[in-house]
Amino acid sequence: MIEKLVRPTIQTLQPYSSARDEFKQDGNTPLDDFVFLDANENSYGSAIGNYNRYPDPQQKELKRAVAHLKKVQPKQIFLGNGSDEAIDLLFRVFCEPKEDNVIILPPTYGMYEVAANINNVALQKISLTPDFQLDTPAILSAINANTKIIFVCSPNNPTANLIEPKSIEVLLEKFAGIVVVDEAYIDFSSATSWTQALAKYPNLVVLQTFSKLWGLAALRLGMAFASPEIIGYLNKVKPPYNINGVTQALALSALENSSQVENWKNTILVERELLVNSLEALPQVEKIYPSDANFVLVKIQNADAVYKELVNSQIVVRNRSKVTLCENCLRITIGTPEENTLLINTLKKLL
Ligand SMILES: Cc1ncc(COP(=O)(O)O)c(C=O)c1O
Repeated sequence: MIEKLVRPTIQTLQPYSSARDEFKQDGNTPLDDFVFLDANENSYGSAIGNYNRYPDPQQKELKRAVAHLKKVQPKQIFLGNGSDEAIDLLFRVFCEPKEDNVIILPPTYGMYEVAANINNVALQKISLTPDFQLDTPAILSAINANTKIIFVCSPNNPTANLIEPKSIEVLLEKFAGIVVVDEAYIDFSSATSWTQALAKYPNLVVLQTFSKLWGLAALRLGMAFASPEIIGYLNKVKPPYNINGVTQALALSALENSSQVENWKNTILVERELLVNSLEALPQVEKIYPSDANFVLVKIQNADAVYKELVNSQIVVRNRSKVTLCENCLRITIGTPEENTLLINTLKKLL
């Protein structure tokens, strides 16, 4: 069923075979005992350390660690240069330019639209309901023979709420194409990840990232979880060495030293509540939307002016006031206690 959804070009594509892919060791000789003259690297070394060799194109060691953490099989994991890379590759695998279309559910993460435009793939936009949930009947009636992917972001950016699992289930069951659930913020939510439903839904792709709770935005490491068949297609089209050696090594070491991560989560959730309480006490704040993420969406009088005044005070939040359903809204990331106090004190002065 998945094969039918894949662009014919990709089905028959002969992927690039790198030096490190072609070399298959059959004995038990340690890798260090081999002389590698197959990849035109600098055999003498590098100025800054052990970086003269190409990294593992399949990121086997890192995938083993991610598989353990996420309770999935390594063959259900694709690692990308940020989850943004996985979003782009999903278009390249499934969407024939100028022919196919995808459905996005605004207000939502902006990269789905940009990736569609880059790949010359038509977009259908079905707005979320006023309480930021899926308008399932409208989505289902928008689906046509060329609809290949529906992007659902849960918890959603910029609205911060979780999307009702039941409505995602309806899409997974009724839509014969790919349902992408982008869980970039799932680590801040108490909801079960959709990775646990992969065995049930062959058309499900779950995106997660090391850029948020894990504090590794600079490394650029995102994850896509799906059936081994879908992962195989993503691997077929990815650049051979898409995850660089430094990122692989540092991410592995973060996974081996993860004790801080749970503490950060707890601290961020406590700080979120404190920030929400302080914001609620400000007379100009009209609404704070419920959050399952490490940010809050705040409806505030004169959002544009407040945004500018905050910048003048050297505090940068995200102005979402031009986005449909987010009129007069600012998106505010939960900062450290000092940063949150500074924000509140500055807002009090402004207001
Ligand atoms: C919903 C969502 N998905 C994906 C991303 C991109 O994450 P990455 O840093 O892994 O590319 C973001 C970043 O803000 C996001 O908000």
